Amino acid sequence: MGEQFEGIIRIFLLGLLEMKLMERSTPIIRLALLWIAGSAVAAFSSYGIAQTPGAKPASGDDGLRAVSASPAEVAEGKKLADTSCARCHGDKGISATKEIPHIAGQRAVYLYNELKAYKNGARSNKKMEAAVKFLSDDALVKVAAYYASQDPASPSSAKPAPAKPDPLQSGKAAASGCAGCHGDGGISKTGGVPNLVGADPKFLVAAMKAYKDGQRKHEMMKTLLADVTETSMENIALYYALQKPAKAQTPSPGDQAAGKTAAADCGGCHGDKGVSGNPATPSLAGQDAEYLVEALKAYKNAMRSDDTMKNLAAAMDEKTMKNVAAYYANLLPQSPKVKKPLTTAEQAQLCDRCHGLNGNSTDQLVPALAAQRVDYMEMALRAYQKGSERKNNGMAAMSSGLSDAEISNLSSHYAQRKARALVFMAAPNCK
Ligand code: HEC
Ligand code: HEC
Ligand code: HEC
Ligand code: HEC
Repeated sequence: MGEQFEGIIRIFLLGLLEMKLMERSTPIIRLALLWIAGSAVAAFSSYGIAQTPGAKPASGDDGLRAVSASPAEVAEGKKLADTSCARCHGDKGISATKEIPHIAGQRAVYLYNELKAYKNGARSNKKMEAAVKFLSDDALVKVAAYYASQDPASPSSAKPAPAKPDPLQSGKAAASGCAGCHGDGGISKTGGVPNLVGADPKFLVAAMKAYKDGQRKHEMMKTLLADVTETSMENIALYYALQKPAKAQTPSPGDQAAGKTAAADCGGCHGDKGVSGNPATPSLAGQDAEYLVEALKAYKNAMRSDDTMKNLAAAMDEKTMKNVAAYYANLLPQSPKVKKPLTTAEQAQLCDRCHGLNGNSTDQLVPALAAQRVDYMEMALRAYQKGSERKNNGMAAMSSGLSDAEISNLSSHYAQRKARALVFMAAPNCK
């Protein structure tokens, strides 16, 4: 189809932007810009990726209309870019500077909206505020159009930083030294050592911290946890929470039936089958019987501090403790309600729902992420988390639960994707 067309132009503007250009008195060479069949959008729809309806060129509705832009307008945008933007954003919008984004090939309306946001203070950044402060709306349109028409950056050629370790894998590794006493997968084979499987991760982390800071007195566990960081404790607890629960493989010599009667008042907090619904209260089902007795004694003699448990344990003699322990030890433990964390690829699929397949947005209001700088994306995600420099409800929600490791892995995932410009063709026969 090549020679029928005067050239390829890569601008894809919303009606909004189009109207701005149409208002001008300068004659505009009308270029009907056609979607190249088989390009980005076709690929997206074949994956069934839902994008907002505004992403497809349409006419006569609120969506995208036939788009026009004059080469002269783009050339004016380039002049402004060369004098006012290039020193930071690089030649043709490919940035070589840390924490300054590539803007080449970015979606035109998104660029224009962000420039306006800097200008009216909705998005705060000193450098950008200074850069746009004295620019007219007209100039913003042109410079956005110019950058949108440029070829996007190539995927980051820097060797990807090694992925930040997956919390589950890290937890498994950190727990390898615990298995000698607590058993493989946290199922104890040693009387006096508790099962760690079936426990809510919040309870396990709290227990580890209590040993570490001496609130729960146990010299051996204190020493064992001395060098374990809080993150590592969280990973370990996650690992145990996701293992298949089973009863401790240890003896439970007490009288279970007598224990059941004596435990009548315990179920209100520990669950009627010993499975607690509250992370602050431990599950007792399947727990090692000897440990349960030790724990009750520890409350009784104030080695462990908890007022409720102290009073309850004070009223129990050793025989009752043994019976109660035998009863709980023989109930079936359950998995706490914890979901396996998503891998980076799985998380990115959620992001792609708005940002387009592999970060190649086909929605003019949503920025492309493919081949964007890692450092810039990390900074942007933290800015949404904080909600002060950048405010966006969708992104605040999407970023709020992300850990530092996830931010870094997702940013590096997108930096490695191939960026595709939204390609439109100039059709000379349309006036
Ligand atoms: C002094 C350096 C500097 C200059 C000059 C500069 N920028 Fe920026 N620009 C930045 C930085 C830093 C950011 C990231 C700020 C942030 O995190 O909000 C940025 C962000 C942007 C963004 C947001 C991109 C995105 O993906 O959200 C756009 C659009 C932009 N600049 C366009 C321009 C244009 C157009 C000019 C010229 C008129 C310009 N900039 C001049 C430093 C600069
Ligand atoms: C040398 C044996 C041993 C090793 C190794 C060991 N523990 Fe323990 N752990 C115990 C004993 C014994 C107790 C019971 C202490 C008490 O009575 O408070 C315990 C208790 C705990 C508890 C409290 C459970 C509850 O239900 O309250 C947690 C959590 C724990 N250990 C985690 C770990 C982790 C994590 C590791 C590896 C980093 C580890 N332990 C290594 C012996 C060990
Ligand atoms: C009012 C709520 C409540 C009631 C009733 C209660 N508990 Fe507890 N129990 C707790 C809480 C909270 C903890 C955790 C305290 C801590 O952090 O040390 C706990 C801890 C325990 C532990 C330590 C478990 C571990 O893994 O370290 C045992 C054993 C225990 N309770 C047994 C009992 C028994 C037996 C009864 C009935 C006689 C009972 N509890 C009744 C709230 C309760
Ligand atoms: C509901 C739609 C939606 C989802 C889902 C979504 N985003 Fe966004 N994202 C947006 C929009 C809209 C913006 C532009 C907001 C603004 O104007 O600041 C944005 C902006 C960004 C930016 C800033 C880009 C730039 O050039 O400044 C990054 C980085 C980003 N998103 C990453 C992600 C990641 C990672 C995920 C998945 C965890 C994600 N997004 C999920 C809609 C979404």
